[in-house]
Formats: sequence, structure tokens, C-alpha cells
Amino acid sequence: MNTAQFVPKILSEVIEKASFTWQTPSNIALVKYWGKSNPQIPKNASISFTLNNCHTITTIEFLKTEKLLVANFDLFFEGKRKEEFKPKIAEFFKRVQEYCPYIFEYKMTIHSENSFPHSSGIASSASGLSAIARCLMSLEQELNPALSEDFINKKASFLARLGSGSASRSIEGPLVVWGKHPEIAGSSDLFGVQFPYEVHSIFENYQDAILLVDKGEKQVSSTVGHQLMHNHPYAESRFQQANENLSKLSKILQNGAIKDFINLVESEALTLHAMMLTSSPYFILMKPNTLEIINKIWTYRQEHNSNICFTLDAGANVHVLYPASEKDPVNRFIDNELSKYCQKKQYICDTVGFGAKKL
Ligand code: DP6
Repeated sequence: MNTAQFVPKILSEVIEKASFTWQTPSNIALVKYWGKSNPQIPKNASISFTLNNCHTITTIEFLKTEKLLVANFDLFFEGKRKEEFKPKIAEFFKRVQEYCPYIFEYKMTIHSENSFPHSSGIASSASGLSAIARCLMSLEQELNPALSEDFINKKASFLARLGSGSASRSIEGPLVVWGKHPEIAGSSDLFGVQFPYEVHSIFENYQDAILLVDKGEKQVSSTVGHQLMHNHPYAESRFQQANENLSKLSKILQNGAIKDFINLVESEALTLHAMMLTSSPYFILMKPNTLEIINKIWTYRQEHNSNICFTLDAGANVHVLYPASEKDPVNRFIDNELSKYCQKKQYICDTVGFGAKKL
């Protein structure tokens, strides 16, 4: 794998002081990444919708110092110093050391905030780490102004992946594939790429309402969940199935076969959770209200001949997906019939978005 392309060779400029602010989104996988090997290489290819409203805004101030052995940074989350978030970021800086050696010549001050409540159960690692990666690439661009926009996006995704796999899919939009797949031109295990084919208009401006079923800390983190795919009895067939599902979904996204989309996306969500149910040790992240919502969605779909469907990430929250043309009736359905299964009736209406934005 060609990682050498991401080791900087020329840094022509000297920058004493700089500050960059990026807004990067969360994403929701349609074909799931669950299982990886070192260093953050996925066991199968995945694809996600980039979101629009759920995002992180991060500013990094860089101040030149003498060369350091470990990254020197202060971290503020929503205006307050957050020592407990530092180890994950320190580990990230260590992992990218070879690719961003220049950051060890700066004192960094990081300010970060999320558009969604921190305790919402919405994973912030995708938007959080992609935002940091994008700020690092802004510095690299100033140090080497010859870099192309295409390379910068690719390397930002490459760096984000080293922080959190799904973060590699949070640089661009509206659909991003991460993981090498024979039918997706340009796809790579090292970084996410925009879905390279024309997408049917039914998937334009697709809606995602995130129902906050459980805002508590998860009993089992994604990191542990991924590890449990080693020696998992169904791992190999799962990885093969995911790659086959991506082949199918690629065609569906192009031809607009919405019923096939619903079938595949819901099956992916339930298969992800089936992997958790059959891990050793086994675990359950769905809650009773997750199942209540799924059943309501199925009934509504049948009774209203609707194209509503659901997906799940590694938690109890339900992502309700529907075409923009059904926005009004489905939003009414969510408010009247589903919100009662959410903690404090809370849900977040989001739509598909286009990726990182410099502020
Ligand atoms: C279920 O990207 O959070 O959301 O690489 O260990 O940081 P790490 O894992 P993470 O795993 C995401 C798992 C998922 C599926 C997906 O987003 O594809």
C-alpha cells in the first residue's frame, strides 16, 4: 500500500503562527465497517451518507516552538479544558507522526465544539477527528502551497482514518466509500473516496432523523466491538457479505431501486447488531425502544406505502432514512408516534451533506 505518498517531502515555507477553523460532519454508514486490522485497515469496504447538521467545529492555533518529542497541545471542548479527551488525541498525533512531522514543531491549542449534545449517544469521533485532520492539512498546505486540493482531501481522510476508521468518510460527501472494492473505482483501504458514479435523483437531499433513544455511555465501545470480530465465528462470511452488499448498493444508488435500498440498508443494520449478539463475549446495544421504533417504522411503511427505513450505528439510537419527497408526512409521523420512544422526546433532523467546510 502506497503510504509513502503521504510523507511530506518538501515544506518550502516557514510559518511562525497560524490558526485554522474547520467544520466537519458526522456520517451514517449504509454498508457497515465492523472489523479491522492494524493500522486501521478495514476488513470490508463501507459506504456512508455524509450528514449536514451534525458536525464538529474545531480551531487549531499553531505557534512555532523548538522541535518536540511528543505533541504539545491544550484541548478545550465547548470552552472548557478537557483533560479526559487528551489521551485519544495524543494517540492520534502519535499515529500521524510520520505523515505530519511538522506538528512536533508547534505548540497547538485546540478548541472544539459539536452541534449535537455531547451526551446524545451520537458518535463524535468521526466529525471530531476529521476536523483535527483537516486543520493539520491546512497547516501543511501553508507549508507547501504547491499541494493540490485533491491530494489535501485524500490525505485529510487518510489522517482521519488513523484516528477513527469512520472519520475517513467525513471529509467529503454526499456518499463516501472507504475500503478497497473492485467495483468502486479509486477506492482504497487508506482513505475515503466520493462515490464515483452518478446517483439517482431519489437519493438527493435524503433525510436522516436521528432518534435519541439512549443518551448514556455505551456498555461496549466500537473499539472493543471491532476487536471482537477477531475469532468471531461469522467474521469471514460477514466481510464477504458486506463487500457483496456494496456491489448491490452501488447499482441501487445508480438505478434508484428504492425498495432494494430499504431492504439492503435495514439488513446491514440488523447484521451489524447480529455480530454483537454473536460475539464472545456477546453484548446488546439496542434498547427496548429501539425495537419499538423499528416495528412502528415497518407498520407505517406498509400502511402508507412509504419509503421510510431505518439504520443503526453502534448504539441504541435509530437513524430514520427517507426521501426528501416524504419529508412532511414522515416528520409528522416521527413527532406524533416515534418521539415518545426517545429520551426527553429528543431527535435531530438532518439531511445528506457535502463534507468539510473551512470557516
Ligand atoms: C458501527 O469508526 O467508531 O459506526 O475505527 O475504532 O474508531 P474506530 O471505530 P469507528 O467504528 C464505526 C462503526 C460503525 C459502522 C460504520 O460507521 O461504518
